[in-house]
Amino acid sequence: MTSVPVDIASSEFLDTPVQCLAALRGQGRTAITTDGWVIVTDFDLARQVLTDPKTYSSHIHKHVSVPGDIADEVAAIRAQGWPYTNALGTSDAPLHTRNRQMVNKAFTPRALTTLEPLVRHAAADLAAALPDGESIDFLTAFGEPLPVWAISKVLGLPPERSTDIRRWSTAAVASIGATPSSEDWLRYEADLLDFQQTMVTVMRENRENGTPGVIAELAQAIDEEDPDSGEGVQVSLLLTLLRELVVAGNETTGKFIAEAVRLVGSDRALWQRLRDDPSHAEFVVEECLRLASPTQSARRVVAVATELDGRQLAPGTIVMVSLAGANRDEHQFAHADVCDPDREGVRSQIAFGQGPHMCIGAGLARLESKIALQVLAQYVDAIDAAGSEAVYTRSYIIRGPITMPAVVHRRA
Ligand code: HEM
Repeated sequence: MTSVPVDIASSEFLDTPVQCLAALRGQGRTAITTDGWVIVTDFDLARQVLTDPKTYSSHIHKHVSVPGDIADEVAAIRAQGWPYTNALGTSDAPLHTRNRQMVNKAFTPRALTTLEPLVRHAAADLAAALPDGESIDFLTAFGEPLPVWAISKVLGLPPERSTDIRRWSTAAVASIGATPSSEDWLRYEADLLDFQQTMVTVMRENRENGTPGVIAELAQAIDEEDPDSGEGVQVSLLLTLLRELVVAGNETTGKFIAEAVRLVGSDRALWQRLRDDPSHAEFVVEECLRLASPTQSARRVVAVATELDGRQLAPGTIVMVSLAGANRDEHQFAHADVCDPDREGVRSQIAFGQGPHMCIGAGLARLESKIALQVLAQYVDAIDAAGSEAVYTRSYIIRGPITMPAVVHRRA
């Protein structure tokens, strides 16, 4: 336990999170941030918090203050849309359980089995188009398009919407653990209004046309369940659910695939091994998730007074579970900084969280990433991205590349 407050929004923390988290772990299992939050970097404590939703609630008011100079303009934009409500990430049981059941079907192993050949096909198209020996942005050439394609399929959005999906999700995550400029902020607000208005139209169209996917199912299910309640409430919930799925469905996975390639891309022996034994991709994915997950942390609020690591926590205290920190805890993972897909317990990493809020798309993300590596192995001898000047998001919650310069060495 250390008591010197740490500024997790400082440039040092945002630029070198791995080193800063290692320093924190060296001082104790938990620390206090300059905001008075408790940050957990210990693997066992992280799991303890995430699997005890009665003590550590997800019902956090994640209000982000709008800069004063644009407050009126932002309010005017928001007045044209629907208020967001608590759907998955910020709700507790029983509301959370009900909402999760509404979308769970799309992510079952059975649904993923149906999706697998389609994802493989989409990945092969992208891999076949990668140029040889040129510097490209691997994120836009491969990392992002695959999850955008997959989540569109799951939801029932046409492929032409892929540019919109990128724009909407960039807008949705812009103020998570970060502060955009006023100019950017206004653009993001307009994009989010566009998301809502488009989704409302697509919901009606997909329901009427019987287009397969979560969008039509959600619209249908809610109507049947409660046909007489106010439409505003229903639409708000649907839009919040869809926003969570759209954002989480590509923002994280695209960044992750690019990060995984940065981590292992230049290892020619590894690509050869993946060609010889495609099942090895699963373990590479687990290890890359442990070391380079874009989801750095999960926040909770103390619901009932408790004690954690010798600290007395009053209700209302924010606890930030550092998934990135816990995943490099040497007590759990020997030589934690080393990428070793053959390590014992490689599946025990917690990049997808734990407990009732554990990532609903974990199976989909694992499928996409595994297929990405397997398919790339068929096309490349190596992808050099490790030494490149990748630009990263500056957030302590979602950290990942915005661009990922890379040179692809295609197989002869
Ligand atoms: C590498 C990719 C991904 C990572 C690292 C990741 C990570 C996470 C984590 C850590 C959580 C739990 C947060 C918490 O406990 O507060 C979470 C929740 C969630 N994820 Fe993912 N995710 C990924 C991909 C996806 C995909 C493909 C989807 C697809 C729709 C998705 C949808 C969601 C949703 C809806 C939640 C909220 C679940 C709930 O609160 O019940 N994620 N994700």
